[in-house]
Amino acid sequence: MSVLELSKITRVYRKGETEVRALDGIDLCIEAGEFLAIVGPSGSGKTTMLNILGCLDSPTTGSIVYDGTDLGKLDEAGLSAYRRDRISFVFQSFNLIPVLTVRENVELPLVIEARARRGKKGAEGGRGDAEIKALALKMIEAVGLSDKADRYPRELSGGQEQRVAIARALVKTPLVVLADEPTANLDSKTAGEILDLMKDINAKMGTTFIFSTHDRLVMERARRIVTLHDGRVATDSSGAGATGAGPAGRA
Ligand SMILES: Nc1ncnc2c1ncn2[C@@H]1O[C@H](COP(=O)(O)OP(=O)(O)O)[C@@H](O)[C@H]1O
Ligand SMILES: [Mg+2]
Repeated sequence: MSVLELSKITRVYRKGETEVRALDGIDLCIEAGEFLAIVGPSGSGKTTMLNILGCLDSPTTGSIVYDGTDLGKLDEAGLSAYRRDRISFVFQSFNLIPVLTVRENVELPLVIEARARRGKKGAEGGRGDAEIKALALKMIEAVGLSDKADRYPRELSGGQEQRVAIARALVKTPLVVLADEPTANLDSKTAGEILDLMKDINAKMGTTFIFSTHDRLVMERARRIVTLHDGRVATDSSGAGATGAGPAGRA
């Protein structure tokens, strides 16, 4: 079952008289459990594509169907609820909340979700505090940071911060994790470790990862590589034998 179907996606930015076709007719089908790298030169449309996949931006034309839901049929509130419940992000600059501990940062998506549910009339109550804490600690353990649960982001290395961000992305069991150049601020050894961690989680939990990069390390580990050029898909390795869903092979 495909988790994501993009058809004829365009995104046109207008600046006065000039028009930039950042995405120029993207057709792409992504299966559940893929570990997909989007690569291409600067300006080829990677960030625009991830923003659209993450419902942070809407296409100018074309349709996105997520797990059977046509995003074009959702209103603004429906779109933000969809983003909150099903989509997670890992950022280049980690974006942890400095005044919260590691555990509190990882709990945050669940706290927000529980609050949103409680606010809805007639909806069943969200998770309680004890359950949220247990889920967060389990994810913190999965990224190898159990001994840092009560530390603050400033007490961590960049690699550790990105591990926390990955735990935070996964704690709500999202449909997809989107990451725009997640290793850009890390040295190459740490970047390799972060990618191995993501790949390990992808294999164990079956979470779909879609990330952009121009980092060789990512390209070596991705099972499917889609290359963008001037807002179009220039190459897609899935036609050349990549498998889509299934356990990830070791790089
Ligand atoms: N907010 C914007 N307004 C105008 N043009 C933009 C905007 N964002 C991106 N672009 C243009 O769209 C194209 C694709 O950009 P982007 O998606 O950021 O590429 P990449 O992430 O691959 O470097 C580029 O030509 C860029 O200048
Ligand atoms: Mg970019």
